Amino acid sequence: MDLGLEGKKAMVLGGSRGIGWYTAELLRREGCAVALCARGKEGVDGAVEKLKAVGKGTVFGDAADLADAEATRVFVRNGIETLGGLDILIHSASGFGLAASEENWQRSFDVDMMAGVRAVEEALPALKESDAASITFIGSMASKFHFGRPASPYGPVKAAMRAYANELAQTYGKDGIRANAISPGAVWFPGGAWDRTKRDNPKFYAGVEKSIPLGRLGTGEELARIIVFTASPAGLWLNAAHICADGGQVKAVD
Ligand SMILES: NC(=O)c1ccc[n+]([C@@H]2O[C@H](COP(=O)([O-])OP(=O)(O)OC[C@H]3O[C@@H](n4cnc5c(N)ncnc54)[C@H](OP(=O)(O)O)[C@@H]3O)[C@@H](O)[C@H]2O)c1
Repeated sequence: MDLGLEGKKAMVLGGSRGIGWYTAELLRREGCAVALCARGKEGVDGAVEKLKAVGKGTVFGDAADLADAEATRVFVRNGIETLGGLDILIHSASGFGLAASEENWQRSFDVDMMAGVRAVEEALPALKESDAASITFIGSMASKFHFGRPASPYGPVKAAMRAYANELAQTYGKDGIRANAISPGAVWFPGGAWDRTKRDNPKFYAGVEKSIPLGRLGTGEELARIIVFTASPAGLWLNAAHICADGGQVKAVD
């Protein structure tokens, strides 16, 4: 199947590592020009070099903290200018607010939710010009299932992103812009949070593996395929959708 991504322009917020990185790399393999940001300059520069080696066309990267309103807006504006437009916006970064404190609530709200709002506001004019525009928020199954930890900001802000994706889809469908949210379950990749858990708490990790029908965690590549398909022209009839990408980890019907 042709995803229709050749020559498209894509931006990944939080793209130097993890699911955002696997997504940026796959977008590149499918023929996209790509812009990405993260806080760490070294990580951004390394990612840009690797992406340049993968495909053709522009690659733009810059260090930006998505908790910072102005830095977020500046990155998005510069990225769109450098790419010469935008078709695909993907927000994959998180404040990972897994413990409740005033600071964690604020950071989670800023990084997960408000960075998405600010990026969308900056990107709307370019997305309206696109003939294949999509916005994709990377959420978490913690937005629909309680995983047993004490109450924290993580799930609630991811749930807010799902509601916001629907608002965007309903509002901007008339402009040809789709918006969706994808919720991963537990995803393993080298150097990621679950890789650390596997090393530091193998018993807990084995329990999580056992709880997933396929007997293992998802991988970064597997998530990237779902994200890229959803964001691509091939995923056109996915709109205002919440996609549970958890390999059946959450034992619910929908
Ligand atoms: N991995 C999982 O099992 C899992 C499960 C469910 C949901 N998710 C969701 O999937 C998304 C990606 O998770 P991941 O595990 O791939 O994360 P990760 O490995 O920690 O990577 C996060 C990426 O975002 C960047 N980033 C983090 N905070 C940022 C900030 N304030 N400003 C700019 N960039 C920032 C990081 O680079 P810097 O650190 O250099 O900024 C990195 O490039 C998140 O939204 C997460 O909630 C992941």
